[in-house]
Amino acid sequence: MRVPLQTLPLLLVLGAVCASSKFTFPLRISPAEVRNTVPVTPQTPNEFLGLSFASDPTGKINFLAMIDNLEGDSGRGYYLELSIGTPPQKLNILVDTGSSNFAVAGAPDPYITTYFNSSRSSSYQSLDVDVSVRYTQGSWSGILGRDVIAMPQGVNGTYRVNIASIRESENFFMPAINWQGILGLAYKTLAKPSSSVETFFDSLVQQADIPDIFSMQMCGAGLPITGSGTNGGSLVMGGIEPSLYKGDIWYTPVTEEWYYQVEILKFEVGGTILNLNCMEYNSDKAIVDSGTTLLRLPEKVFDAMVEAIIQTSPIQNFNNDFWNGFQLACWDKDEKPWTYFPDLSIYLRDMNASRSFKITVKPQLYIQSLLTFRENLNCYRFGISSSTNALVLGATVMEGFYVVFDRAEKKVGFAISTCAEVDGVTVSEVAGPFSTQDVSSDCIVRNPLREPVMWIISYTLMSLCGIILLVLVILLLLPNRRHFDDPELVNDESSLVRHRWK
Ligand SMILES: *[C@@H]1O[C@H](CO)[C@@H](O)[C@H](O)[C@H]1NC(C)=O
Ligand SMILES: *[C@@H]1O[C@H](CO)[C@@H](O)[C@H](O)[C@H]1NC(C)=O
Ligand SMILES: *[C@@H]1O[C@H](CO)[C@@H](O)[C@H](O)[C@H]1NC(C)=O
Repeated sequence: MRVPLQTLPLLLVLGAVCASSKFTFPLRISPAEVRNTVPVTPQTPNEFLGLSFASDPTGKINFLAMIDNLEGDSGRGYYLELSIGTPPQKLNILVDTGSSNFAVAGAPDPYITTYFNSSRSSSYQSLDVDVSVRYTQGSWSGILGRDVIAMPQGVNGTYRVNIASIRESENFFMPAINWQGILGLAYKTLAKPSSSVETFFDSLVQQADIPDIFSMQMCGAGLPITGSGTNGGSLVMGGIEPSLYKGDIWYTPVTEEWYYQVEILKFEVGGTILNLNCMEYNSDKAIVDSGTTLLRLPEKVFDAMVEAIIQTSPIQNFNNDFWNGFQLACWDKDEKPWTYFPDLSIYLRDMNASRSFKITVKPQLYIQSLLTFRENLNCYRFGISSSTNALVLGATVMEGFYVVFDRAEKKVGFAISTCAEVDGVTVSEVAGPFSTQDVSSDCIVRNPLREPVMWIISYTLMSLCGIILLVLVILLLLPNRRHFDDPELVNDESSLVRHRWK
């Protein structure tokens, strides 16, 4: 089969729009690959208004009011508008389920247009504690304080929360982003400087008395990442909005409450199961992270996956650099490359441990339209990359699903998202149940050294071992010394030797 395709060196293609090598790296929070400055027009349509009024069991929150409260895309992240302080200062805040601090720019930065000036807020209260957070990409440091926030399209009311004011940052704010802060929605275990800093969502749940659950829909599927405009999305706080998904929600347990860590059992490429030990998929953790752009796979899994894709695809002549993210692949504008690539499925453990379910992403989600070249070519990137420390279900995957973070029941749910459609085709699937008889009963890589307490224990054990070893060495050396000093022993030995010669 002839596949009309041209690969172009990334630097050539992106020379004009992209200024750095960051394109090649999966981005934790940041969105560096896209350099087009794009005016943002808030999306206000609400085709759901005609639907029945959905709300939480207590009837206090209106989920419909939260539909479309996000803007952004997978490359630059999805953000929510917040009003901070008194009088309110409005900022856009990146929604990140892979960290646990709420932090906003507290000083000017070349890449942001506005920032939170705490001295202009009468309700701001400094805690005088330094805080810094390092992400897979980027880091910031600042000072911890407390202030009131309100969400124009969230839970009504004002809430007092911890806020870090960012004073200095590196690779955190990027060109063309339209957000000025980050909302870490993971568990308090990850909060800096310590887990005693109550997280934004914990404060909200407590003060608004809403259920401890939020859900997310990110609507960038199939849309060019450099698109002239931003896509929408929804962050539903306090529950689940039925109009945002189709079919059933399938849940997998949160195996440990720090990141949203889940257990992946199998990978399937075009109907064929990858032949890897399931531990590889969870090495050293598998997490659901809205703040990561791509689907990131541990190196071994990545290599196996790419090989399997090449096997099932008529595209054999792809340069390695496409898979590694250094090159884009371009096709005629009229041609969609998606038929050349297989579906990818990820099997997750069901709440019933002897079952699993699978979530499937079609190529429309992971072969991502990036830019148009010379009028007649559309260029795409591979939305999957390799990782050294985690498997991350980032925006590439999340854009296919309505994802429920049910903290109350320690589970994450996946359902087909109503906006996961490209040219009228649904680009994601959720199916189950499947038996888990062919997989180990536990695929989690347990790393006891993760916990500080375990560090202390292991150091204590190590020092104990050291002392015992030292004593042993001394005990061993002492007779030896005697052995060399004592002529009798030497004689004895020589007699033995002589004996043997006889
Ligand atoms: C917040 O209050 C406004 C005005 O009363 C209402 O229209 C809106 O639905 C409420 N939003 C939520 C999320 O409850
Ligand atoms: C914050 O606002 C105060 C009062 O308006 C002003 O004096 C100060 O320069 C501002 N700080 C920054 C960092 O812009
Ligand atoms: C869990 O799944 C197994 C296999 O499908 C089934 O036999 C069992 O009844 C289920 N257990 C519960 C508690 O539903």
